[in-house]
Amino acid sequence: MTVLGIESSCDETSAAVYTDQGLLSNIVSSQTVHSKFGGIIPEMASRAHVEHISRVVRTALEEANCKMSNVDAVAVTTHPGLHGSLIVGSNFAKGLALSHNIPAIPVNHIEGHLYSPFLEFDDITLPMIALVVSGGHTSLFHVESTDAYEVVGNTRDDAAGEAFDKVAKMLGLGYPGGIVIDTLGQKGNPQAFSFPRGMIRDRNLDFSFSGLKTAVRVFLAEHYPQGVPEQDLPDICASVMEAIAEVLVVKTMKAAKKRGVRTIAVSGGVSANSRVRSFFHEAAERKNVRVVFPSLEYCTDNAAMIAWIGHTKAQQSLEKDLSFVTGAAALRSDGKKAKRKTRG
Ligand code: KG4
Ligand code: ZN
Repeated sequence: MTVLGIESSCDETSAAVYTDQGLLSNIVSSQTVHSKFGGIIPEMASRAHVEHISRVVRTALEEANCKMSNVDAVAVTTHPGLHGSLIVGSNFAKGLALSHNIPAIPVNHIEGHLYSPFLEFDDITLPMIALVVSGGHTSLFHVESTDAYEVVGNTRDDAAGEAFDKVAKMLGLGYPGGIVIDTLGQKGNPQAFSFPRGMIRDRNLDFSFSGLKTAVRVFLAEHYPQGVPEQDLPDICASVMEAIAEVLVVKTMKAAKKRGVRTIAVSGGVSANSRVRSFFHEAAERKNVRVVFPSLEYCTDNAAMIAWIGHTKAQQSLEKDLSFVTGAAALRSDGKKAKRKTRG
């Protein structure tokens, strides 16, 4: 079973090939056009996907030493994300599926992040608590299997990644700012300033990061009306990182305790953060639970995680119900289902 995965939900154009032997390629083309605007311009993102998608898919196939005629299904992110960006990837996938008479498998982007640790770990014990923490989402899940999970907590306002990006913008650090805050923060004192840990003591498992954003804005206006001198940036970044990491860890540990679960997975762009990772490792060791993170390349948006889901879904449905399949089948104008190729 060979699955081509395509991801284009935000500002990364990505394609990957996943087979029964594992991941064979994962090509990610990141858009740099947005950095000077301090955030993503959706129209520009869609245009950049159109520009790069053919090359990215071709390179992923070449690197995997695979031809389209060997691909059994195309998995593609269909939601959630920027509509214009999603349309580029899903139409490209449907076109490929239609022309090669193979299924196109719709994949939820959050599920992609949620299960991304499975790309590298084959010994994860379920059930687990999974934290998906990215630029668009901060959610906690109780995961029972590779296709059954329950949302147990969510952000009430901003996502943690959004808080990182907004703070970076206030500090004049460009977009995306999470990684810049991380790099600077590693050189600073995390106790230098105390920023709010939203909802940390609440009994529920929800998050709130809008208060932190406002607190940083007020703090900067009060202490640095002329702008922050370069030498003070590390301490501010380290203190912001500490506040975000602490809330994420405390809430996730609370979820694990409530559900009596001893495995935790953390994924999504913010899971690349050095302090988030070290904070989780320290807490996990203290509480004697296992915490897993994807490697850095699979934390941020990538098609490998989409191809993995496609491969899992296709295997689960092999020769059974293919009603989850859109694309080739859905696009046939004569109403007949496209025949699915099976290879030995
Ligand atoms: O998963 P992702 O690539 O896209 C979404 O699904 O949103 O996550 C992107 C987010 C951005 O907000 C980015 O600033 C943040 O992840 N991010 C980081 C780091 N690397 C990426 N935040 C903190 N520290 C990092 N090292
Ligand atoms: Zn994402």
